[in-house]
Amino acid sequence: MKIIVLKNKEVGKKAASIIANEIIKKPSLVIGLATGKTMIPFYKSLVSLYKKRILDFSKIITFNLDEYLGIDSTDPNSLRYYMNKHFFSKINIKEKNINFLEGKSKNINLMCRHYESKIKRIKIDIQILGIGKNGHIGFNEPGSKFNSGTRKVKLTNSTIKHNFKQFNSKIPKYAVTMGIKDITNARKIILLASGRNKAKVIAKTVNGPISTSIPASILQCHNKSIFIVDKSAASKLNSK
Ligand code: GLP
Repeated sequence: MKIIVLKNKEVGKKAASIIANEIIKKPSLVIGLATGKTMIPFYKSLVSLYKKRILDFSKIITFNLDEYLGIDSTDPNSLRYYMNKHFFSKINIKEKNINFLEGKSKNINLMCRHYESKIKRIKIDIQILGIGKNGHIGFNEPGSKFNSGTRKVKLTNSTIKHNFKQFNSKIPKYAVTMGIKDITNARKIILLASGRNKAKVIAKTVNGPISTSIPASILQCHNKSIFIVDKSAASKLNSK
């Protein structure tokens, strides 16, 4: 596990520069993508590299981590909508290369099994992750098994509170997410965190015991995991 501590503004840029180098080396890079506030500067940096013609996304393949249950991709509250808004609509990715869990699928279990077997077949080169205040990755909430696969999950109250500040309509209590096993099977993992409200969970994840009560702590076992955190999120780490 490698920890990089940077100024807040540099977090997204650093992650984007790692991805950029990988895409230049392998234009058909397979990337696992995340949503959340932390990711916005990261997508902005990638879009700017595309606009400067430094990056070409025409061959990349993406798999997003998660989606709310019962929500359509056209719903502004959906994670698919977020991705279109911040990233997909601004670059030259091919629609056929975008993989997303369908929140409104008629057969959720089957859809999850197909998603997971596609990930197993294609293999994610780099997985981008954010982290919940309770240590969740994707929507793998505390208690999720380390060998869990893609599945329907119940969101915790704290996640609902954090993620749905802007929801006006009915708040979804369930989601579909890639499992912890799907995530840790990625060849490389980059986790981003910023802000003081992530300091406790970053310290527990990095310095604490590996435990399902902090799902992200399993990343201590991944030999190619990099944490890019700002100074506030790093402020409670033992070894700085
Ligand atoms: C959601 C996503 C997670 C993400 C988290 C962090 O819960 N499912 O994948 O890591 O948000 O969000 P933020 O960056 O807004 O703190």
